[in-house]
Amino acid sequence: MAHEAPVSILLLGTGVVGSALIEMLASGTCAGDVALSAVANTRGVVPTGGAALTAADVHELLARPRTVRATSDVASDEVLDAHARRSCPVLVDATAARGMERFYERALARGIHVVTANKKPLVVPWVERQSLFDAGRRTGGARLRYEATVGAGLPVIETLKDLVRTGDRVDRIECVLSGTLGFIANELAAGTRLSRAVAIAKERGYTEPDPREDLGGADVARKACILARELGAPLETSDVALEPFVPAAVLGGSEEGRDLHHALESLDDEHARRVAALNARGEKLVYLARIQRGAAGTVRASAGPVALPSTHPAARLEGPRALVAFTTARYADAPLVVSGSGAGGAVTATALLADVLKVTGRA
Ligand SMILES: NC(=O)c1ccc[n+]([C@@H]2O[C@H](COP(=O)([O-])OP(=O)(O)OC[C@H]3O[C@@H](n4cnc5c(N)ncnc54)[C@H](OP(=O)(O)O)[C@@H]3O)[C@@H](O)[C@H]2O)c1
Repeated sequence: MAHEAPVSILLLGTGVVGSALIEMLASGTCAGDVALSAVANTRGVVPTGGAALTAADVHELLARPRTVRATSDVASDEVLDAHARRSCPVLVDATAARGMERFYERALARGIHVVTANKKPLVVPWVERQSLFDAGRRTGGARLRYEATVGAGLPVIETLKDLVRTGDRVDRIECVLSGTLGFIANELAAGTRLSRAVAIAKERGYTEPDPREDLGGADVARKACILARELGAPLETSDVALEPFVPAAVLGGSEEGRDLHHALESLDDEHARRVAALNARGEKLVYLARIQRGAAGTVRASAGPVALPSTHPAARLEGPRALVAFTTARYADAPLVVSGSGAGGAVTATALLADVLKVTGRA
């Protein structure tokens, strides 16, 4: 069998997900020949050129003081051109940065595959999203994959794509898509205060870089939008009927630590009373998203907290588990259910690495 050329990764983001991917590659357990050739965060980019990065290079990058100028460094044509010259080049986005869609387009135009955990580039206005998807098609070879954006490591996007491309009619998708909110709801049900439950979720790496995106429902709205768009619906995130987990007015202020923690403390008692009342009725709060096809074929999406009987499968999810149930023409009686851990560095990095192997034809 011919020896396959090694895959070269330009990794953006060295946080919870990015560092899990770095560890995974360093462990040498991946079946493919995959190496990091460049790594970037907001503190800088380890320049491409030369051999694969060493662990010392990555440590040096992580130890750098925080600056704001690195983003333009990593987005330079020079960095992309150098990466495009490597064998099987892939750009992996493990940031939550806005505006990455333009960077992806430039990468795809150079024949660099793009794999992302970042939802924001996929929920840009529909026309821009189509332009991004076309950029990959125009080059004829470079591909974009984003399994990690919904349900972390769970095969949600691929399952939905398979249903659609085999001609099934997807009528309804009901999902618990936020591992973070699921974890917080479980902690609340067990008697933990809201402010403390959010702090634990953040410590464990379950939350978005800015936890207000989880608590306000924006993160779930993006995921619902990504799923609805797989059905061909030109839905925008603003079309998702959204009820936040925590009211938007409370979430104002800074994402950094104290402001948010204090704001949440003001809701601790109210949430404790609400949860106690639900417990007494044998119910649990679940942050549920629904994507529904109407009679005329129009697709609607909604997300918000609902009280479900504690025996309901969505209410029995433990920790940061996620659940997605597809009701389709072929799965009409019993929905096709995908469920498991829906947040965390290792599972999300697994989805990224699996996508890297798929775009490069290694899987
Ligand atoms: N955590 C999860 O369970 C999970 C699950 C599914 C999907 N995701 C998605 O995965 C992505 C990363 O999440 P995370 O939890 O790893 O976040 P995180 O811990 O906050 O890490 C974000 C990383 O991105 C870097 N970064 C931000 N803007 C950048 C830019 N413009 N250029 C280069 N690097 C940039 C940050 O740099 P600094 O280190 O310098 O700040 C940081 O290293 C997010 O889009 C999230 O939605 C996360």
